[in-house]
Amino acid sequence: MTTSTSIDLSSARFISAEHPAAEGDPAAYFRRDFTVEHGLQSATLRVTALGIVEPYVNGSRVSEDVLTPGWTSYHHRIALSSYDITDQLVVGENALGAVVSEGWAVGKMGFELRRHHYADRPSLFAQLTLVYDDRTVTIDSDATFRVGEGAVRSAGIYDGETYDARLEPTGWSMPGFDDSSWKGATEQKVDAARLVIDAAPPIRRTQELSPVEIITSPSGRTIADFGQVITGWVRLRVRGPAGQTVTLRYAELLTGGEPEYETLRTAQATDRYTLRGWGTETWEPSFTFHGFRYVDVEGWPGELRPSDLTAVVVHSDMTRTGWLETSDPLLSRLHENVVWSMRGNFVGVPTDCPQRDERLGWTGDLHAFAPTAAFLYDVRGVLGSWLQDVAAEQQEKGYVPWYVPDISSTPSAPTALWSDVVVGLPWTLYWEYGDVEILRQNWPAMSAFVDQVEALLDPSGLWGSGFQFGDWLDPDAPASDASGGKTDRHLVATASFVKTLRQMSDAALALGHADDSARYRNLEGRVRKAFRDEYVAASGRLVSDSATAYALAICYDLLDKDQRAHAGARLAHLVAKSGYTVSTGFVGTPLVAHALSQTGYVDTAYLLLTEQDCPSFLYPVTQGATTIWERWDAVRPDGTLNSTGMTSLNHYALGSIADWMHQTIGGLEALEPGYQRMRIAPRPGGGLTSAHLVHDTVRGRVDIAWEIDGGSVTVTVTVPTGASAQVVLPDHPDSAGAEVEVMAGTHSWTYTVPVENKEEYTFDTPLQVLAGDRAAWRTLTGVFKKHLPFPIDASGPEAASVTLSLLLSAIPHRTPELERDLREALVNL
Ligand code: BGC
Repeated sequence: MTTSTSIDLSSARFISAEHPAAEGDPAAYFRRDFTVEHGLQSATLRVTALGIVEPYVNGSRVSEDVLTPGWTSYHHRIALSSYDITDQLVVGENALGAVVSEGWAVGKMGFELRRHHYADRPSLFAQLTLVYDDRTVTIDSDATFRVGEGAVRSAGIYDGETYDARLEPTGWSMPGFDDSSWKGATEQKVDAARLVIDAAPPIRRTQELSPVEIITSPSGRTIADFGQVITGWVRLRVRGPAGQTVTLRYAELLTGGEPEYETLRTAQATDRYTLRGWGTETWEPSFTFHGFRYVDVEGWPGELRPSDLTAVVVHSDMTRTGWLETSDPLLSRLHENVVWSMRGNFVGVPTDCPQRDERLGWTGDLHAFAPTAAFLYDVRGVLGSWLQDVAAEQQEKGYVPWYVPDISSTPSAPTALWSDVVVGLPWTLYWEYGDVEILRQNWPAMSAFVDQVEALLDPSGLWGSGFQFGDWLDPDAPASDASGGKTDRHLVATASFVKTLRQMSDAALALGHADDSARYRNLEGRVRKAFRDEYVAASGRLVSDSATAYALAICYDLLDKDQRAHAGARLAHLVAKSGYTVSTGFVGTPLVAHALSQTGYVDTAYLLLTEQDCPSFLYPVTQGATTIWERWDAVRPDGTLNSTGMTSLNHYALGSIADWMHQTIGGLEALEPGYQRMRIAPRPGGGLTSAHLVHDTVRGRVDIAWEIDGGSVTVTVTVPTGASAQVVLPDHPDSAGAEVEVMAGTHSWTYTVPVENKEEYTFDTPLQVLAGDRAAWRTLTGVFKKHLPFPIDASGPEAASVTLSLLLSAIPHRTPELERDLREALVNL
């Protein structure tokens, strides 16, 4: 969180080289010597840049932070880092240095590929405060600093870094270096009021991975596979002749065994290291980052060994707060993929993707993912800072930009899921952390947005005109128009606005603004009525007969009781009709499984979650995905890329399905802000036999574990001090005893589950009956798939009379293994 500073920062100026930076220019190196006297108590360096800064003292890096200061809306807020460097100083001569590259502020950013969004050259801000026993001495960045060049020949966020080790001036950040060939720094005017201290947690290296394989591609390229799509870069250790250049080009995917660069669009994602030529040289880039699993290595002197390369995982250093494991390895992997996509996209700003020429703080993506993010990590720092940027940009421009920081050349119209993040995110954070200050700080921005949309409503109360992203990336939308899905865009907008108004009314109550609360409640009633008049038949059927439309109407409480039951049934029907593949986009995906389980179709929700045909939640997992893809069908079953231009392989938005996994498989839901009161109600299904959820709430750790062993169920929960929980024991034989109130502590229950009188399937069961039981059919078709080169089909009328044994007898090359596996599957169904 930003703390306003009592330190006087007004004396320090931003300093730069004399001339503006052109594309591909070297980074700026800054330095100056200074003297430390006896009696030093403490030394604090405050530093930031318009660009990316790597500060040095006496020849060593000042900190482990990387990509400092991260990306904020620099016109309003520039994050200042503060380091205690007392131990790095000596009495006598010392030197301060900094390398500053273009970063987000100066370099090419945004899909419009423009430069100089915030400044025309990299510039440094530094203030060193030396506190002595009897006085304080301050050294500020000013024209006494010298500026030159070094090994960092160029560095762009999208294109990568070029480093020529031969050109690093030896000892440049040590005292006494001869900087006479360097120039005096030029002072830049930047308002010190923009400087904010500790805006968000720093970006750091959080993990390292070794290659799982070094591959020679069909065309002869040398490629290291790190086995996991990450965000960061590769560190190399190399020995070789001076002047030899090693080129690393990063990719998320191999197609036909070769690196696939299409997911990067125009980003070059290439680092180059030129050897100085003596000893073992260790290098990693400092001024760029890449989204990748593979790196194509060119120019390596000698044979490349796995130990020569290390992939470095980089993101905002947040505290992990949420975990979920299940007995199904595919579901556990899906959840793991969500975590990796969050890690890959919380690099200062919550971004859409980390690899292509975008990496922008798209509001809709974050809005869809926010409840999942707040479960997995403590996001108060990153998202609290980002919300301040959202509010600052909104106040300046009069609208909530579609992505923040906003570098677009065109204004953003108010849209559902994107612009209303300004209400939805503070509400999610308030709910997670129970801190009403989050609402108070954001209230002006929240009400400005809602008032703006209110003025756009048509006389009946519909948000019925203007651009909308709709159910973005509905798999059925045409490839050329991701917003052109099945669900009417203004249905999405109006439904979403009802939810937003409800959040506003509740937030106003929490803040003690009773009048505002009543006003928003009233408006909610008007918009809800307009929605029902326009889009809902008396029966509960919706005019957009799509899963997303029903999910919205159910989750946002837009229907009366009978209509809701009808809508639930219709939704379950549509989900089954699409073969349990995904038919929802950014809007519907976070809601669809909740809508099913809320209307009594939890089994359907499990079938949807566990489907493996393309496009489905588990399809990418079966294809070896290690992150969440922008589209579930980004890579086709034959391994080729779905060339729509929207195929990032690391996009967290659709990972929002994990919220349902936490609530329904893990069983945790907050009933009050900050989990003072919670509901623990796991609902086993989908063939799962156990699950384990852990969540570190602001009150302490919640732990929920359940296991089904034969006919017995064990549920163990831990509730933190000061909290209470309503526990609903799954499948409990005694409905009166199924609901229990518990206080803090660990509680465990073991009970016998009534054995279901389930129909037994045999070789004499007709295919049609088997196909009617989706889970059974999936298991059996899986067995056939393993043994036969063609699929089996039960869609024709003959399936009513063809039994499994009849089908088997008609297969000429059936093997005993096929029969054995079928028999085993039948027993286990
Ligand atoms: C981004 C999305 C984003 C969308 C909206 C895309 O290019 O990657 O995730 O929300 O644009 O237009």
